[in-house]
Amino acid sequence: MEMSPIPKTAPFAEEEIDLLNRVVGSASANQRAWLAGFLAGLDAASAGAIAPQPAAPARPAEPLTIVYASESGNSEKLAGDLAKAARKNGLKPTIIDMADLELPALASAKRLVVIAATWGEGEPPARAIRAYNELMGEGAPRLDGVEFSVLALGDTAYAEFCAIGKKIDERLAALGGKRVTDRVDCDLDFAEPAARWIGDTVKALAPPNAGGRVIEVDFGAKPTVAPSTDIFEAEIIEHVDLNSSRSDKETIHLALAFEGGAPGYEPGDSLDLYPENDPAYVDELLKVAGLAGDGQLRAEFIKSRDVTTLSLKTIDTYATSTGHQYVKALLADGHAREWIAGRQLIDLIANFPIALDAEKLRALTRPLAPRAYSIASSRREVGDEAHLLISAVRYKTHGRARKGVASNYVAELKRGQHVRVKLKPNKHFALPAPEKDIVMVGPGTGVAPFRAFVQERRATEAKGRSWLFFGDRNFTHDFLYQLDWQDALKDGALTRMDVAFSRDTPEKVYVQHKLWDRRADLVEWLDGGAHFYVCGDAKAMAKDVRAALVRAYADVKALSPEAAEQVVATLEREKRYLQDVY
Ligand SMILES: Cc1cc2nc3c(=O)[nH]c(=O)nc-3n(C[C@H](O)[C@H](O)[C@H](O)COP(=O)(O)OP(=O)(O)OC[C@H]3O[C@@H](n4cnc5c(N)ncnc54)[C@H](O)[C@@H]3O)c2cc1C
Ligand SMILES: Cc1cc2nc3c(=O)[nH]c(=O)nc-3n(C[C@H](O)[C@H](O)[C@H](O)COP(=O)(O)O)c2cc1C
Repeated sequence: MEMSPIPKTAPFAEEEIDLLNRVVGSASANQRAWLAGFLAGLDAASAGAIAPQPAAPARPAEPLTIVYASESGNSEKLAGDLAKAARKNGLKPTIIDMADLELPALASAKRLVVIAATWGEGEPPARAIRAYNELMGEGAPRLDGVEFSVLALGDTAYAEFCAIGKKIDERLAALGGKRVTDRVDCDLDFAEPAARWIGDTVKALAPPNAGGRVIEVDFGAKPTVAPSTDIFEAEIIEHVDLNSSRSDKETIHLALAFEGGAPGYEPGDSLDLYPENDPAYVDELLKVAGLAGDGQLRAEFIKSRDVTTLSLKTIDTYATSTGHQYVKALLADGHAREWIAGRQLIDLIANFPIALDAEKLRALTRPLAPRAYSIASSRREVGDEAHLLISAVRYKTHGRARKGVASNYVAELKRGQHVRVKLKPNKHFALPAPEKDIVMVGPGTGVAPFRAFVQERRATEAKGRSWLFFGDRNFTHDFLYQLDWQDALKDGALTRMDVAFSRDTPEKVYVQHKLWDRRADLVEWLDGGAHFYVCGDAKAMAKDVRAALVRAYADVKALSPEAAEQVVATLEREKRYLQDVY
């Protein structure tokens, strides 16, 4: 049996104790004696002393509870960064995914930090809904004496900016918690403000004079979150519109090749894609702003600024920097929020023109953020490639034709050109053990990760059954990856498939209707331990699918709606109901 000489109570983090045990546990008596002497010598040398110094007594680290509510991993990653900084400052952090949070843990925490993202239209991340509702509910415990701080993640493009972080912050205070640092609300470019908040919060929560053995860190404005360095330049080797020429949609299958190896992705992961703006749009924006001649600004805007998003913050900045009376009035009379709907930065400037210089215009924009796309391939089948499925977002509002930045950037690229991407892992949307059954619900581009799942199950000869629900508008024009599914049904990588084409019948049929039609088998699969996956539209589809499953249980098992709801909630808690929705 392996020896574990370093006790769990040692003043190290759990994973450090594991690492030390791995080395020290298997070391010979000779090696251990050498190590002991070496470390003693090192301490003496670094203290500049000749005689051995008495070691400072190791002070037990003070506990810190870190709760994160995350959908796409940003809050989770920051929770890890915070834990690292905390450890260096005499704190012993425990990280809890809000999905697994039991509320009494909050009351017993002396120090509590929450990092929470907002999703949907001002909603909690899907996995966090249960614990969030409990926290907001009447049964939430008192938190008298608990020191806390909250970091909110969000996107100023949404009307309900950072709503969940704000509500949690208010709630913790209302329950008697003591706020030690102010909440920080982060936009998509969160790295720096988050790093500053981490520094300030750790400093505020650290035990006084954490000194002794504790390593000091510089809490200056320097980000502790390193800027991403792992951006891959990938070549487009396939660029195919999967819709027919008669479809009113354009959905691009993009195959990317990576020189020197694809990033180590797993089925369920996404790629962040770094787009550029449409030069024609930038030209129009510069024209309405009276800055058409500024070539440098044009180049900068095309490459690196978000020139389309219009938020309350943008309007506020415009009103302050220009003093425009009508814009001030729009804010003052409370109509700005409503005015923003369906509009972009260009509408603000075109509707309320005023002289602008490059600096003022730049201040109205934020850095251009990457967009996430589910990976539609398995490395076991495609080697050093990664496939994406991207639907071109096009619509018309307030008399202007609009184009989604990244999806149209991709749609207009050609084979042989390059894109910049970065891996965005998602361990919360992974395949189960190979013998488990899976049910996948992925209408539209929501089907992308399931192509990866099916490829993976084929390559690994997984024994579990797999069942796909797909939907789109027309069978003839919009059946994404139709041949792939037919092949998979033939070779057994896919056991079953049900399709819903909403515009082929007088009454619209969606995936949730197919789930209902197949409810008896569906419940049987789930009762047998199947995992249930949903990917795609968050606004309507994901909610309708969940509701359909609750109704299916109620009907098949003759349960009350409340009892059926509990069954589905249990699937979620057991992490057998998994979502990746947007
Ligand atoms: C984890 C994850 C995985 C994803 N996977 C995929 C995928 O596999 N395939 C895929 O295609 N997309 C996927 N997406 C969505 C993708 O990231 C982008 O959001 C999408 O491509 C639009 O980006 P864009 O830059 O083209 O549009 P943007 O320039 O970001 O514009 C989109 C915005 O335009 C506005 N808008 C759009 N339609 C309308 C309308 N009809 N009326 C008024 N306003 C409107 C909305 O404000 C919307 O937020 C995923 C998202 C996430 C978070
Ligand atoms: C589909 C979708 C909906 C979102 N809704 C909101 C919102 O209503 N309010 C907000 O402030 N941010 C919203 N965001 C932005 C996220 O909060 C932001 O991307 C955050 O960094 C995600 O953190 P996470 O990776 O920890 O989930 C939304 C993002 C997506 C993709």
